Amino acid sequence: MKIEKIVLIYFSPTGGTQKVVRTLGKCWESKPQEIDLTDSKTEYGRYHVSGDTFCIIGVPSFGGRVPAPALERIAKIRADKSPALIVTAYGNRDYDDTLLELKECAGKAGFCVTAAVSAVTEHSITRQYGTGRPDKNDRRQLAEFGKTVRERILKSEDLTEVRVKGSSPYRKYSGVPLKPKAGRGCTQCGLCARKCPVSAIPVDNCRKTDRKTCISCMRCVQVCPQKVRTVNGVLLKIAGRKLRKVCRIRKQNELYQ
Ligand SMILES: Cc1cc2nc3c(=O)[nH]c(=O)nc-3n(C[C@H](O)[C@H](O)[C@H](O)COP(=O)(O)O)c2cc1C
Repeated sequence: MKIEKIVLIYFSPTGGTQKVVRTLGKCWESKPQEIDLTDSKTEYGRYHVSGDTFCIIGVPSFGGRVPAPALERIAKIRADKSPALIVTAYGNRDYDDTLLELKECAGKAGFCVTAAVSAVTEHSITRQYGTGRPDKNDRRQLAEFGKTVRERILKSEDLTEVRVKGSSPYRKYSGVPLKPKAGRGCTQCGLCARKCPVSAIPVDNCRKTDRKTCISCMRCVQVCPQKVRTVNGVLLKIAGRKLRKVCRIRKQNELYQ
């Protein structure tokens, strides 16, 4: 089939998913357009993706699920049987039902999901897990797979739907209790409020966080220029300990087509 355009669509609060998606899309000659689902102000309903556009759609795994705002935003996009490669980035624990949930959501939006990837990235909360990933080997493997998918799409007339791991009803996820707060040294610059994917930080009082709205994605912690946004240290230690056993072994990326 003929592909006229490449679009990278991703929700990536701390940049791990974005890295994986960009690596997978590197092999296309034309520079891809990017739709950054992390931006809370964009009207995603204005995007209509044509059938001759190849998309790479990436989300992180939060509790083995697609983060709710990413799901809502993808559902607003309209696609015209556009071939898609779906991706989940996860912090070396597991991605459980994330790919299946993403596949079903993308299918409803009109994409034909023909390949999928789960890739290990640094865990954005407990950063001692998945540290440094995607590393050189991961990047080589992902770039190779991007090429394989590209060749297959260009050669084939009809695309088949990929099968991925996961089961429905999806794993229950009700969030984590780690909500970042600004400590002493906050200059109220407002960057965290502007960058928050769910507008959980008031622009005029950015020391506060609306705990109900916050999805604990850690973006505010990462972007804070003063490095004064943090989560509760005791809870963070407990979370690290809980994950120690399951995260001990280096997980492999999984490539589906
Ligand atoms: C709220 C939250 C929940 C997470 N849940 C999981 C999980 O269930 N399994 C896992 O392996 N990693 C989990 N992670 C780690 C992320 O999937 C991983 O760090 C990912 O790279 C984050 O994507 P980003 O860098 O694009 O923001 C979680 C991270 C956050 C913030």
